[in-house]
Amino acid sequence: MRKSILITGGAGFIGSQVVRLFVNKYPDYTIVNYDKLTYAGNLENLRDVENKPNYHFVKGDILDVELALKTVQKFNIDGIIHLAAESHVDRSIHNPDEFAVTNIIGTIRLLKAAQTAWNDNYDGKMFYHISTDEVYGSISTGYFTETTSLDPRSPYSASKASSDHFVLAFNNTYGLPAMISRCSNNYGPYHFPEKLIPLMINNMVNNKPLPVYGKGENIRDWLYVEDHARAIDAIFHKGKAGEIYNIGGNNEWTNIDVVKLLCRIVDKKLGREEGTSAKLITFVKDRPGHDLRYAIDPGKTISETGWRPETAFEDGIEKTVDWYLNNENWLKNVTSGAYLQYYNTMYANR
Ligand code: NAD
Ligand code: DAU
Repeated sequence: MRKSILITGGAGFIGSQVVRLFVNKYPDYTIVNYDKLTYAGNLENLRDVENKPNYHFVKGDILDVELALKTVQKFNIDGIIHLAAESHVDRSIHNPDEFAVTNIIGTIRLLKAAQTAWNDNYDGKMFYHISTDEVYGSISTGYFTETTSLDPRSPYSASKASSDHFVLAFNNTYGLPAMISRCSNNYGPYHFPEKLIPLMINNMVNNKPLPVYGKGENIRDWLYVEDHARAIDAIFHKGKAGEIYNIGGNNEWTNIDVVKLLCRIVDKKLGREEGTSAKLITFVKDRPGHDLRYAIDPGKTISETGWRPETAFEDGIEKTVDWYLNNENWLKNVTSGAYLQYYNTMYANR
């Protein structure tokens, strides 16, 4: 049984839910959150667990192989759940190098730290890499399975696909026990408001235009973030080295339908006349190379681990809107300073 776990990127959107779940569910495990705290990492996301005796935080960069190695050794880490990454597709289009450095080189450095610390004694050890359905590319009909060929089409997905290959190469070449899961689009609390759903909620609240790329016909399969965290828990405990597991919600929506749904919920919650927020919808220049549709088949994960999604989209999206309306300060903090500069540059010429 693996009981001392390093979670990289634990201060981010998904990582903080994984940390929260493991800290609360496994009080006898040691949970170490290893995070550099980039613009996307925020210790505010973990206020409710930061004083628990089984939780530890190390401010560290996955590129810093010495610190990663020391941390794995110090805490006798036997399981690594690797989420740290640059995660936003639009940013990758403007700055691909940063994505290659963090997502590819960073993952290789972390693999090397695990390999060195475990020193060929791989009994009971596991390196679990969190990846994305975007590595499969865009699919017009049918679903991605674990054997679908990789066809990454953005700098972000190219960097994630490359890191996936390195994880499997370390498993094949050096025998490092490693596995991967690939998940569809997550949504929920603590989602950084550069991503579609929180960006739209934030703009509705502030009466700002709602920038829908292209015609809004692109399709994503949305999964509530707590469901993803539970899938990671199930795979961490039941998954096998060398394997890949797909995770998704079987919940496909066009972007425009998601935005219209959000408009209706926000109007209702803010007591606005129906249709007020929808007037803010603005069709803007499309994302270059914009993938049309992602759709993932999570059948293997369901049959091999017993996991399944539990949160219906309508419930999850309502909880998400409530969370953002009740956490104005969080939203204000993360959208001040550098974020404003990013937002203005990104949307100025669209
Ligand atoms: P996020 O951007 O919210 O968080 C990323 C975290 O990684 C932040 O806390 C950041 O500080 C940290 N980080 C970045 N670079 C680092 C470095 N060099 N060293 C240490 N820490 C660093 O990302 P997210 O949306 O929570 O995604 C987490 C992981 O899940 C990523 O690997 C992403 O590719 C994958 N994923 C995301 C989604 C999604 O819908 N958000 C879906 C599938 C897979
Ligand atoms: O599929 C999993 C991936 O989902 C993860 O690997 C990524 O880390 C995560 O960011 C997400 O990528 P997307 O590009 O799908 O998410 P994003 O929220 O950026 O965009 C969702 C859709 O909404 C996409 O088709 C682009 C569109 N969009 C996005 C923004 C930010 C808009 O129309 N307007 C916007 O302002």
